[in-house]
Amino acid sequence: MNILVTGGAGFIGSAVVRYLINETKNNVLNVDKLTYAGNLESLRDIENNERYRFSQTDICDRVSLDQLFKDFQPDLVMHLAAESHVDRSITGSKDFIETNIIGTYQLLEAARHYWSQLESTKKNAFRFHHISTDEVYGDLESTEDLFLETTPYSPSSPYSASKASSDHLVRAWHRTYGLPVVITNCSNNYGPYHFPEKLIPLIILNALAGKPLPIYGNGEQIRDWLYVEDHARALYKVVTEAEVGETYNIGGHNEQKNIDVVKSICQLLEELAPNKPEGVHNYLDLITYVKDRPGHDLRYAIDASKIEKDLGWTPVESFETGLKKTVQWYLNNTDWVQRVQSGEYQNWVKTQYDE
Ligand code: NAD
Ligand code: DAU
Repeated sequence: MNILVTGGAGFIGSAVVRYLINETKNNVLNVDKLTYAGNLESLRDIENNERYRFSQTDICDRVSLDQLFKDFQPDLVMHLAAESHVDRSITGSKDFIETNIIGTYQLLEAARHYWSQLESTKKNAFRFHHISTDEVYGDLESTEDLFLETTPYSPSSPYSASKASSDHLVRAWHRTYGLPVVITNCSNNYGPYHFPEKLIPLIILNALAGKPLPIYGNGEQIRDWLYVEDHARALYKVVTEAEVGETYNIGGHNEQKNIDVVKSICQLLEELAPNKPEGVHNYLDLITYVKDRPGHDLRYAIDASKIEKDLGWTPVESFETGLKKTVQWYLNNTDWVQRVQSGEYQNWVKTQYDE
């Protein structure tokens, strides 16, 4: 099959592209604008594979999208391109509205135009897979509840509101035009190639540099962590096996308080990186409570029983094994780290953390 992946130079998108090239026989076209979050170095292992190609394209650019669909003739579309960082959506929401809402609209229209002209076998087999987030469901506060596929939408941040909006557009394109869509809503991912504005890589790299480990508010917020390669495997199952119009929640059964995640990273670093920066006796001493995120959701937790039952997917990695692999990856890949930490990243750290 020909699979068009948007956002394939990002954290999850690059894991999906590596999975498709290494574990399947499909051809991949990676369509990515290469924003600050897009990094072709995350694809070094597969960039010379003859089944892989790349186009630097903005998903808001309908003319270019039409040409890409015409030339590549995709059987499947996996749409991951997005602005993805909640804190950035709070300081500036414009790019989130443009990419996540307008970009998804343009991609839907390009896909619909292309799909409507396919012959019937290809038309029936075509899928538009929209990759979304559990944040559209909002906040579970202090309840024991889990997010189900039927949980009402209640997004809290400009990021999650823009993702909720894109989910609604995708469902409307299915209902109104019959476009064969599937949607997934996943919990927090972690693993290799994660951009260090997000909690886990930020904490690993700050600790190794002897910098403060910033905990928003009281650190009691809970996230449900999933190793990124487990997510990539789930996405391929959904795009190839799910019934048209279905939605699947994907999660890791790994609910953790932020403060506990940070402590676990510190403990792992004591073991894996015992030669600490000058003046640091214990990584835990670097923990620093800072101003809370406005509108901060207290708890996310996924009920992933539908994808387990229908498609037989379960995560392979436990939080313990996945976190150890992740810390080790950052210790082994200092070149990648140094390159993503240059340039634009410095400005973000200055404005966000007052450094
Ligand atoms: P990311 O920020 O690491 O990567 C996003 C990618 O999209 C980058 O390569 C960027 O260059 C590209 N992009 C941004 N704007 C674009 C545009 N206008 N045109 C083309 N490409 C553009 O994001 P991620 O963490 O890999 O998330 C991927 C998707 O998965 C997103 O849709 C996100 O909402 C969703 N998601 C993420 C998580 C998570 O924990 N990271 C969890 C659930 C769902
Ligand atoms: O739930 C899925 C979502 O997970 C995805 O849709 C988003 O794209 C992804 O970025 C992620 O969102 P979060 O806001 O949960 O991830 P982040 O890594 O930014 O923060 C995780 C938790 O850690 C959150 O409660 C905020 C907190 N935090 C974060 C940072 C960056 C801190 O305490 N300190 C920090 O410096």
